Amino acid sequence: VTASWDFGVLKELALVEQKIRESLVSEEPLLTDIATYVIAAGGKRIRPTVTLLSFKALSGKDIRQAVDLAAALELIHSATLIHDDINDGGDMRRGRPAAYKKFGLQNALVTGDFLFVKAFGIGGKFDPDIVEITANACAALAEGEIRQKRHAFDTSVTKDEYVDIIRRKTALPIMAGAKIAGLLAGARLEDVDAVGDYGLHLGIAFQIVDDILDIIGDGARLGKPSGTDVKEGNVTLPVIHALNNGNQIDKAELARILQKPVKESG
Ligand code: IPE
Ligand code: IPE
Ligand code: MG
Ligand code: MG
Repeated sequence: VTASWDFGVLKELALVEQKIRESLVSEEPLLTDIATYVIAAGGKRIRPTVTLLSFKALSGKDIRQAVDLAAALELIHSATLIHDDINDGGDMRRGRPAAYKKFGLQNALVTGDFLFVKAFGIGGKFDPDIVEITANACAALAEGEIRQKRHAFDTSVTKDEYVDIIRRKTALPIMAGAKIAGLLAGARLEDVDAVGDYGLHLGIAFQIVDDILDIIGDGARLGKPSGTDVKEGNVTLPVIHALNNGNQIDKAELARILQKPVKESG
């Protein structure tokens, strides 16, 4: 794994990796190959880390269930990345050509679906409330993506609308991992809510940072191209800030760059 920090869950993260690897086995080797290509490329493993930390913070005892859930969440995340690159036209991911670039659009699409199903194979074994939280997080993610597309090239998008989008597409799934960890730890409801809030706020901050890095970050270090958001008309917080607070020249230039392309599909 490429997680380069140690928050005290490295041992558990190794178990998550093992669980993920086991779940990628398929009678169709191409599916395993594509899935492994994406997952073995690394990634920061933020979602499993938040889940495991929340579990430990609430004195959870048997880590195995938290490990399984963390693996499921990372599988869901990897599935969304494969699909997201198709949607965004992102050509690099985790330092490698995006899956759809390397294996073709159809194979990449199906591999994303494969990962979602594998995640639910793991997550579906849990109590109905946990399954529901996970399913709602996936639905929120889809809603966030749809709202983002609806607002594409919309230079009047407000900060509140932006936060609503990133809350759904990024923060609620991270919050879900934290809350599930709390439930698995057998914590009191108020403590489950507290780690949920932690996940929610971390998720929002995380996406804001990602959106800033899309403007000022170095693609080689990020492992994915920067500049994708503006190109796709995804009006993110730094752009909203510039549109509202920049000087006239900057505002006009931004509005020009964010003009809807004439041939816009969808
Ligand atoms: C990418 O997620 C999508 C966002 C929510 C910004 P990550 O930045 O967690 O991607 P990996 O897993 O580390 O590659
Ligand atoms: C993350 O947003 C979307 C998902 C939650 C899948 P981005 O589109 O900003 O993610 P990157 O920058 O391509 O990783
Ligand atoms: Mg993207
Ligand atoms: Mg981004």
